[in-house]
Amino acid sequence: MLDRYSYQAALAASEVIHWRVEDIIGGEKLLDVNNPFMPESLARVEELAFLDDEEKLLLNQIRGNAYLSIFGLVEEFILPFVLDHARPQLSGDDYRVRALLQFAGEEAKHIQLFKRFAQEFEEGFGVQCQVIGPPDAIASAILAHDPLGVAITTLHIEWMVQRHYLDSIKDNQRLDPQFKSLLKHHWIEEVQHAKLDTLMVESLAAGRNEEQVLSGVEEYIDIGGFIDGGLKQQVEFDLESLERASGRELNDEQKAEFRRKQLQANRWTYLGTGMTHPKVLATLEDLTPVARRRVESISGVFC
Ligand SMILES: [Fe+2]
Ligand SMILES: [Fe+2]
Repeated sequence: MLDRYSYQAALAASEVIHWRVEDIIGGEKLLDVNNPFMPESLARVEELAFLDDEEKLLLNQIRGNAYLSIFGLVEEFILPFVLDHARPQLSGDDYRVRALLQFAGEEAKHIQLFKRFAQEFEEGFGVQCQVIGPPDAIASAILAHDPLGVAITTLHIEWMVQRHYLDSIKDNQRLDPQFKSLLKHHWIEEVQHAKLDTLMVESLAAGRNEEQVLSGVEEYIDIGGFIDGGLKQQVEFDLESLERASGRELNDEQKAEFRRKQLQANRWTYLGTGMTHPKVLATLEDLTPVARRRVESISGVFC
């Protein structure tokens, strides 16, 4: 059974949350590079037995830096998408307009937060770690798809954030407190976004027949394939960053294992946790049960 959300309730929930970028990063609030940033369920560094404890910690932090940078990237397409969705109906439902503009404003704030984090990470970590991009090229490639496919991708990303935080970050006492604080502040606003995404998907699917809905779902799958290509590149960047940070070059066998296991870790982080999220599947099923079955038929590759 699909939960029913409303623009008015999402706006009301978001209006009681107040944080500024300056409140949660900078000054005394520093990253501690002695602590892990990412939960092991997403980082999967322990599987790499050829790394010592210090190298596993470095890789965990490299993955943490990439995690926030990749969120920054995807939010750069979510921001114009939400604005474009709001624009054609500026008169009518005032709650709709205000909830969507609030959503866009929060994403703009998150983009700035992630940029600030990237600067701090570079200063604290001491080694430059490359991340896929540039954001505007990725945003243009994603926004060239059917809006329904883009909306399902956004829905996937924002429920994925919920899952990561609630399942493996919230009660994890090992993570760096500053990094965890960034994830918490981000998550608390994403709760409303995931509900608004559900409303966007429903409105974009309204009036489409099953074939037209399924064509939007195929575009969501195409965007997933595009993201998967980016993740393969990110794994290469992470390997280079780890070698630079540790001062050790891995041998060919170790590199092959790194690529295989870290690609799967990245796939689970950014694709599997969204594609198998019960709320995403419920929304797809509500469009048509065929859409849910189609996504379920391929999600195993990303888990
Ligand atoms: Fe965000
Ligand atoms: Fe968001």
